[in-house]
Amino acid sequence: MVRAPVVAPSTRISDLRPTAVNAILAEVREHQARGQSLVSLMRGEPDLATPEHIVEACARALKAGRTAYPDNRGELGFREAVAAKLHRDNGLQYHPATEIIATTGATFGIYTALAALLNEGDEVLLPDPIYDAYYSPIRLCGGRIRSVTSKIEGLRFVITEEALEAAISPAARVLILNTPWNPVGTVLTRAEIEIIARFCERHNLILLSDEIYEAITYGDAKHVSPPAAAQGLRERCVLVNSLSKTYAMTGWRVGYCAGPASIIQSMFMVLAQSSRGPATFIQDAAAEALGGSQKCVAEMRTEYTKRREQVIAALTGIPGVSVLPPEGGFFAMLDVRGIGIPSNEIRVRLMQEHDVVVVHGAAYGPAGEGTLRVSFASGGAKLASGLAALRAGLLQMKESRK
Ligand SMILES: Cc1ncc(COP(=O)(O)O)c(C=O)c1O
Repeated sequence: MVRAPVVAPSTRISDLRPTAVNAILAEVREHQARGQSLVSLMRGEPDLATPEHIVEACARALKAGRTAYPDNRGELGFREAVAAKLHRDNGLQYHPATEIIATTGATFGIYTALAALLNEGDEVLLPDPIYDAYYSPIRLCGGRIRSVTSKIEGLRFVITEEALEAAISPAARVLILNTPWNPVGTVLTRAEIEIIARFCERHNLILLSDEIYEAITYGDAKHVSPPAAAQGLRERCVLVNSLSKTYAMTGWRVGYCAGPASIIQSMFMVLAQSSRGPATFIQDAAAEALGGSQKCVAEMRTEYTKRREQVIAALTGIPGVSVLPPEGGFFAMLDVRGIGIPSNEIRVRLMQEHDVVVVHGAAYGPAGEGTLRVSFASGGAKLASGLAALRAGLLQMKESRK
């Protein structure tokens, strides 16, 4: 008999759920414990090393004794590097003293912004499907989720004005956007952002713009930072970014937010009572990453471009399956509706019978049903064998439905 715990968690906590990736990871571990060898094309963790000059900057900072408490807003040198980067790459002007704050990764930036902005019962509009790690911090901060249902149009997930309007209610306060968009790979165009900007203005919404995949775009798709795209948006936008993906620095836990001084001041209040910012020497290395040579970023983009082509080539021509070619990020969505089996069942069968792990699109919201997310954050032999297993599994499932 399982005994009830002596101390129960708060109701706020018992409302939280693991992300899809973490839930599937628990299943993967069970299978591995039984001796099954699995190839995972699931996680958004780059397999590339953090560039050497960034590691060296960190070592230098440590040796120079940069180990005291950081400025809780972020070290000034880091905030200045962020301001210079936002100007150089995004055409944005933010004042390092009042409009920028350092955070422990984008994850904590998102949490801090929500904590600073939401009152109990406020609604947060979230595209569906979307990176599911947004759900829990919204709940933790007292917010309620309203889905903006997206759809596939011409091999691309899109958010229409009608879908936005259908989600609005008097309680709506924040809209979260992620461009390039995890999991679906769409990079929003300037015209699409302008529609969203007008919508935010009409309904007095704050935009939380998660731009963590900005550097990873393909072909003609180019990242446009929403506050730079549309007049008036800057005053109602919190830009969230981190170094995790751009510089292969997931474990360093360093990111930043930029926004109007009043919102950044409220976020500072949250930060000063909680994490108090990334470690001082980590911020020095992050300043070097943003301000130093960007050759490493171009090299990573070239590598992901090759992998993207490898994924498309390996998964094209499977009856009942279409690849939605990603415009950005390192995930490809497969439209598997033509197989005629629910996406979670396909995922489970791929894992059990074909030793390959992907995420079912429904894990990211009901509008993701009928799709699978395939990660190419890892490459090499792992990607090649995973893609071969995926192709074989999908072919076999389609065949068995005839
Ligand atoms: C859209 C999106 N935002 C934020 C994060 C988390 O970023 P960080 O490592 O900076 O906390 C991820 C990680 O996968 C992500 O996909």
